[in-house]
Amino acid sequence: MLDFLQDEGVSPKIIEEVKCFRARYPAEETLRHRVPEPRYLYYGREIWEEAITALLCGQNLLLVGPKATGKNVLAENLAAVFGRPSWDVSFYINTDAATLLGTDTFRDGEVSLRKGPIYQCAECGGFGILDEINMAKNESLAVLHATLDFRRTIDMPGYDRIRLNEATRFIATMNYGYAGTRELNEALASRFVVIDMPAITAEGLVKLLKREFPALRDAYAQQFAGLFQDIQKKCDGGELSTKPLDLRGLLAAVQLMHAGLEGGRALELGLVNKSFDDFERQLVEDVIHTRLPEHLTAEDVFADGNSGQ
Ligand SMILES: Nc1ncnc2c1ncn2[C@@H]1O[C@H](COP(=O)(O)OP(=O)(O)OP(=O)(O)O)[C@@H](O)[C@H]1O
Ligand SMILES: [Mg+2]
Repeated sequence: MLDFLQDEGVSPKIIEEVKCFRARYPAEETLRHRVPEPRYLYYGREIWEEAITALLCGQNLLLVGPKATGKNVLAENLAAVFGRPSWDVSFYINTDAATLLGTDTFRDGEVSLRKGPIYQCAECGGFGILDEINMAKNESLAVLHATLDFRRTIDMPGYDRIRLNEATRFIATMNYGYAGTRELNEALASRFVVIDMPAITAEGLVKLLKREFPALRDAYAQQFAGLFQDIQKKCDGGELSTKPLDLRGLLAAVQLMHAGLEGGRALELGLVNKSFDDFERQLVEDVIHTRLPEHLTAEDVFADGNSGQ
């Protein structure tokens, strides 16, 4: 991971400090399995530098942005870079103190605490990934206030107060605009430094495509990245909604093409059909056709493509 950061152009000084952090807080053998081995790598030097610096300073991070801007990928990558075990907690409307911190449970005739993910993470110096934090009710998150601010404690009624391990950090993600999301209240937001996640750059997208699909021909990696930018521009200009601006959908479409589905149909499944408005679908089709030929086979797109499917 550190080599990757270097390739991304992250400042050597920051990488050096990450190394110091890792040396100071090596992952315990028993928790090794919780240190992520990322499936995807996050591309974007500036965001890397901001996020790492904030975590080195002991801050908690809130990653805010539209769908598929790599919030979870970055959160997971950060735990991997710092070499820390991670706990993934998905927030939902009924998330409460018991789900986060723990509950009383009977064991051998005695009441004991069954530790929740935040509790475990706090004790073990983990990286807690608080996913879609704005799905939960703000009132139920008040139990995290002391954990997330300078007090760095968990105080559960009936149990000893514990102090967070020095290596513990929290990284929350949120996406405004999804159905069911709420505004995060100011008290909670003030406990994080906030990164506004940008859309992936064309250069980053080419790297992502080439890593995912090593056989993808360069010209098509460029064209697909360009297509994504075209859709992005139309969204920014208000001509399209954000429905067809879907990086996951684009990756899925390229995968379907690799499996032999004709290009236009693959893009229909991955991008065009995300929109349910006929006019908008037509617009997306037009954008696709200005970039790509009418009929695309796997052989056109991939060096190992098979046109016979
Ligand atoms: N800057 C980026 N670098 C690498 N991959 C990216 C980047 N932006 C988006 N992606 C890709 O987009 C996909 C979705 O990423 P991820 O699940 O992290 O998004 P998200 O922001 O958490 O989305 P959501 O809000 O829908 O949960 C992944 O395949 C990821 O590789
Ligand atoms: Mg996500």
